[in-house]
Amino acid sequence: MGAFVLLLFFFCVFDNPVGSLDNGLSLTPTMGWLHWERFMCNIDCDSDPHNCISENLYMQMANVMVTEGWKEAGYEYICIDDCWSSHQRDAQGLLQADPKRFPSGIKKLADYVHSKGLMLGIYADLGTETCGGFPGSLGYYDIDAQTFADWGVDLLKFDGCYMKWNLLGEGYTNMSIALNKTGRSIVYSCEWPLYEWPYHQPDYHALRKVCNHWRNSVDVEDSWASVKNILEWTADHQNIIVPVAGPGGWNDPDMLVIGNFGLSHDQQESQMALWAIMASPLLMSNDLRDICPRAKELLQNRHIISISQDPLGKQGYRTAKVNNFEVWERPLTGGQLALAVMNKYEAGGPRHFPLTLATLPSWKICTPECNVTQILPSYKELGVHTLFSQLVVAINPSGTALLSITPMKVE
Ligand code: GAL
Repeated sequence: MGAFVLLLFFFCVFDNPVGSLDNGLSLTPTMGWLHWERFMCNIDCDSDPHNCISENLYMQMANVMVTEGWKEAGYEYICIDDCWSSHQRDAQGLLQADPKRFPSGIKKLADYVHSKGLMLGIYADLGTETCGGFPGSLGYYDIDAQTFADWGVDLLKFDGCYMKWNLLGEGYTNMSIALNKTGRSIVYSCEWPLYEWPYHQPDYHALRKVCNHWRNSVDVEDSWASVKNILEWTADHQNIIVPVAGPGGWNDPDMLVIGNFGLSHDQQESQMALWAIMASPLLMSNDLRDICPRAKELLQNRHIISISQDPLGKQGYRTAKVNNFEVWERPLTGGQLALAVMNKYEAGGPRHFPLTLATLPSWKICTPECNVTQILPSYKELGVHTLFSQLVVAINPSGTALLSITPMKVE
């Protein structure tokens, strides 16, 4: 017995070196779909039945996830954001879905989503109200966690509106405990640092023990300015946030807006490439029922998804800014490297970036040789290279070249 306890102790202490939330979930960044950026708080089902927040929306999205290859590509969570609930709790004090828009209730919806082999996410808020003005969970953490578990929910996005900032840590921790107590596996998506940054630097080691992913920066919008702003924030804070990311706990730069209205195709490629480099959750917010084939192909690109889901789970970071290019790198399993070069010069045509030791110090992994594959803007095996090769990639304005470099040992 003593030996068993000792073994358990060693397992618990040493199996989890960075101290992640111990619920065994999100060992690679969560992949799925979240309604917010595209559908927002559209509750007007009378005049906009096709796009309003209702059970139909999630059921239709679940159907398409299966029939159009999304599930097979790895997207598995269908997530409800704000504005799903009724404005009042029920007579027992439980949260309830808006009866007009969700006539079957969330449990039925979860059953439906599960019958498709997918998972259901839901949204709540640790304060007195959600950001959209629906009932908050303050004073109800145990009850709400149990309600979500009873409904069969698989992910909770827990927002931080209407709460004193100095109580965020306590609130997020208590909800984490409440979710664990239900015994159901529920991915816990937090916004704790976003609400704490205006006051002081969040304690990332503490929040990693509590959340599976956490939003750091402002809400993404459907524009290149917004995507660039999030990337800039991430690079500016990378020394603080990158080391804490790893299996079970990820920095969340917010949703993928690929397939909507605001990004050119090159900019969509940049978002996809950089979200993979940043080991971000890949939560699309778009209309999967009506998405252009190029955006779909990009979102389902298995080479990019395999970088995102690399089991080593190290987040990449910006390594250089040269001549209006940004270089981002992510270490992958087996000594491989993912490399993204973004062309930040937004005029003219494609510009050329030479992959040399001078522009890219990590090119030294090509000693004695390396194998280079270009994944974006198009898939190309670029062959075997050495430290002295003259390899040049062409990148459109606001586009990104994504490459993987595999070091080779010469016999
Ligand atoms: C924001 C949050 C968004 C969305 C919205 C809902 O605070 O960052 O992602 O959830 O609330 O009202």
